Amino acid sequence: MSRSLLTVILAAGKGTRMRSNLPKVLHRIAGRSMLGHVLARAKSVGGDKLAVVVGPGMDAVRKEATAAVPDAAVYVQENQAGTADAVLAAREAIAAHKGDLLVLFADTPLITKETLEALIGELDRGAAVAVLGFYARDPGSYGRLLTSVDGTLLAIREAKDASPAEREVKLCNSGVMAFRLDSPIAVLDKIGNANAKGEFYLTDAIEIVRSQGGRAGVVVCEEDEVLGVNARRELAQAEAIWQRRAREQAMDEGVTLISPETVWFSFDTALARDVVVEPNVFFGPGVTVDEGAEIKANSYLEGARVGAGARVGPYARLRQGAVLGRDVHIGNFVEVKNVALGDGAKANHLSYLGDGSVGAKANIGAGTIFCNYDGFFKSKTEIGEGAFVGSNSSLVAPVKIGAGAYIGSGSVITKNVEADALALERSSQEERPGWAAKFRIMMARRKVQASGK
Ligand code: UD1
Ligand code: CA
Repeated sequence: MSRSLLTVILAAGKGTRMRSNLPKVLHRIAGRSMLGHVLARAKSVGGDKLAVVVGPGMDAVRKEATAAVPDAAVYVQENQAGTADAVLAAREAIAAHKGDLLVLFADTPLITKETLEALIGELDRGAAVAVLGFYARDPGSYGRLLTSVDGTLLAIREAKDASPAEREVKLCNSGVMAFRLDSPIAVLDKIGNANAKGEFYLTDAIEIVRSQGGRAGVVVCEEDEVLGVNARRELAQAEAIWQRRAREQAMDEGVTLISPETVWFSFDTALARDVVVEPNVFFGPGVTVDEGAEIKANSYLEGARVGAGARVGPYARLRQGAVLGRDVHIGNFVEVKNVALGDGAKANHLSYLGDGSVGAKANIGAGTIFCNYDGFFKSKTEIGEGAFVGSNSSLVAPVKIGAGAYIGSGSVITKNVEADALALERSSQEERPGWAAKFRIMMARRKVQASGK
C-alpha cells in the first residue's frame, strides 16, 4: 500500500449488555483483548498512524492501547453522541493527516487482513468512500446498504430510521469504512443528528460524499468476520469463530490435530510442522512448539517453549518460562515453571519443577519436588547433565546437583551435591526376620479373645 493510512478505532462504548466491570473492548478472545486484536489487524494492513477513541474515565482502555502500540494517539469522546461524533473526537489526528482514513470498531475483532486490503483496494479503484458490507442472516438492528439497480451504493439507512421496504434489505453495514478525501473533516462536520436516535451517524457520510460527486463503493465479506460483540453470548461466538480459524490454519501449516474442536489456541500460539496435538489441549499465551513434538491429551501450556521431538503429557502443565530442549519428555501430572530442561532430559511422572535448570539427559524420578519457596523468596534448583534424581526426592532450593550425581529415593536434599557423587538422606533400613508371621498369629488370637468365644 503506497498511501499513508490513519486508522481510527472506536472503543468508547460502555458495553452495558456485557454486564461487566471491565470495559467491553478489554474482554478477551484467544487470550488477547478485542481492542488488541483490532490494533494488530490495523497494523497488519500498514496502518502507520493509529488513533483510539475511548470514553471518559476509560484509563484501562487507554493503557491497553498504548501498551500494544506505544505511538497510538488516544482521544476521549466526552458524550456518546454517535459514531460520527466518535470519529470526530480524533479531529486533531484526522486534520493533520494527508492520506486515507480507515474507521474500525473495537468490538468487531474478527476482520481479516485480506478483507481490509480489499476495502482499501476499492479506494484504489476510484471510490471516495468504501463500506464493508455483508449479507445478514438476521439483519435486525444493522444499518441497511441501499443500492441502485446497478449496485451503486446510494445511502446507509439505520434500522430505526428505515421504511418497511428498506428493512427488507439483507445487505448490511459492518460499520467498517475507508475514506479517500481531500478533507474528511469537512464531510464529517456536515453530518447532523436529525434521526430516530438523535445521534451523529457516520453512515450519513455516504450521501454527503455522493452529493459532492464522490463515488461510494461496497466490499462484501462473510458475516462471521464482522460479528459485533455486545454481550457475552456474542463474545463466546466470536471465540468459537476465532478458534475454528486457528485450528484450520494450524492444520494447513502441517500440524496434526486428532480432534481439532477440542484444542484451544491463543492469539500467538506457534506450532511447527509435524507437531501432533492430541485431544483436549489448551494453549495459553506465549507457547512455541518446534518440529515433530507431541502434545498428549489433557495438557495445559502457557508461556512455554517445547523443543523439536519433545513429548509432553498426557496431563502435563507447562507454565511461564518452561523451556524444553530437543526430545525432552514431560509426563503425566508434571508441572514445570521457569525451568529450562536440556536435550533429552526426562521428568515422566508426578513432579513439580519450579525455578531452575535441568541438564541434558538428566532423569527426574517420580514425585520429585523442587522446593523453591520458603514463604518469602523463590530460589533455584540446578541439576547437572546426566544426573539421576531418585523418586520422591525433595530438593530444597537454593541447591545444586552436580553432573552425573545420583540422589537416593526419598531424600530431602538441602546441600549442594558434587558431580558423580551419591547423596542419600534417609534413615537406614532395619529388618526383623519372621516378625510379620508372629505378629499375625498374635493379633488373630487377640481378636478371638475380644469377641468372647
Ligand atoms: C453501527 C452502524 C450500523 C452498523 C452497525 C454494525 C452507525 C450510525 N451505525 O450501529 O450501520 O450496521 O454499527 O455493528 O454507525 N461508538 C462510540 N461512540 C458513540 C457511538 C458508538 O465510540 O458515540 C462506538 C461503539 O463503541 C462501537 C461502535 O462505535 O464500537 C458502534 O456503535 P454502536 O452504538 O454499537 O452502533 P450500532 O447501533 O451497532
Ligand atoms: Ca454495535
